[in-house]
Amino acid sequence: MNAILVTGGAGFIGSNFIRLVISETDLSVINLDALTYAGNLENLKDLESNPRYRFVQGRIEDSALVEGLMKEVDACVHFAAESHVDRSIKDAQPFLITNCLGTQTLLDAARSTGLKRFLHVSTDEVYGSLGGDDHPFRETDPLLPNSPYAASKASSDLLVRAAYKTHGLPVIITRCSNNYGPYQFPEKLIPLMTINAMEGRPLPIYGDGKNIRDWIYVEDHCRGLLKVLESGAVGEIYNLGGECEKTNLEIVEAILERLDAPRSLITFVKDRPGHDRRYAMDISKVKEELGWTPKVDFEEGISTTIEWYKANRDWWERILSGEYMRYYEEHYGGLS
Ligand code: NAD
Ligand code: DAU
Repeated sequence: MNAILVTGGAGFIGSNFIRLVISETDLSVINLDALTYAGNLENLKDLESNPRYRFVQGRIEDSALVEGLMKEVDACVHFAAESHVDRSIKDAQPFLITNCLGTQTLLDAARSTGLKRFLHVSTDEVYGSLGGDDHPFRETDPLLPNSPYAASKASSDLLVRAAYKTHGLPVIITRCSNNYGPYQFPEKLIPLMTINAMEGRPLPIYGDGKNIRDWIYVEDHCRGLLKVLESGAVGEIYNLGGECEKTNLEIVEAILERLDAPRSLITFVKDRPGHDRRYAMDISKVKEELGWTPKVDFEEGISTTIEWYKANRDWWERILSGEYMRYYEEHYGGLS
């Protein structure tokens, strides 16, 4: 493998993945990204003049564009998506366009160009919600998505599966749990709470704050993706996760403690409709078959993340002064 196409590489996980690939492999990378509200070229500023990196602005639903790009590469790692559950509750349409139609457009182009490998980056949310005593999600569990976002991702997983079963396209699917780390857009729990705590603003916790997520440091996810890209078996699904279940309240308390901010900032607000109670991932398959395991423990990962947001105020202030702020004001009445 010499070159890969990364879709959505200007977003949170995609930008971390590209940085890892450039620093730890000899691969060349084409980054195709539409630069929606979540895409930010500042995330990859350090690579702008790297001869092994090229940025192309465009949408994954543009079949002529993606076909042309796929002719230049051996594999595609597909991150591009509308990724925020709350936004999908307000308006599901962009989720279907990018996550479903966009994925199918990429699959069609992969087929017509004879692409050697298509890695589809999916999520634990496709499995639905767990009760407290349920076993962690396994790759063989049924898909029971609850939010429009999760339903669009589950649909894209099924389109990828169909391309493999019907056309023999060399696909692999990964499903990962909640990521955190540098460059995460501040609509998601950890960056939102970190920034609000730094600014002395209320921390809006949905419902009772006892919903559980399994947290993984983004670099661990990216290393897992690279491992699957290099050694995963075609047609297979691999769960990735941090084996780190925490309630939202525990996450917020960890942030407050590190920032020495008062507990009184915690504000319980109306619950998210259809809010999944618990996610947890069984990652024994990828551990046993590919030898991947998450390395960064939560204490280290959250401290590094908070330090990054402290040191990169310019990055998030520019975001908060722009489109995101307008969106947040329109939908939630502002940040404070
Ligand atoms: P993100 O919202 O930070 O980034 C998404 C990127 O996709 C942005 O750069 C955006 O501009 C781009 N994009 C959106 N629509 C596009 C289109 N039509 N054409 C081209 N580019 C487009 O998302 P993220 O958190 O980095 O997630 C990346 C992927 O990983 C998604 O597929 C998501 O479902 C999956 N995932 C995320 C998590 C998580 O915790 N964040 C966990 C598991 C899986
Ligand atoms: O599990 C993987 C998924 O994780 C990815 O597929 C998604 O792309 C990603 O956005 C993330 O989805 P979540 O809905 O779990 O992430 P979010 O950060 O939006 O919320 C995490 C938890 O925190 C969830 O239980 C809702 C809660 N929450 C979130 C926000 C933004 C709050 O209580 N208050 C908030 O303001």
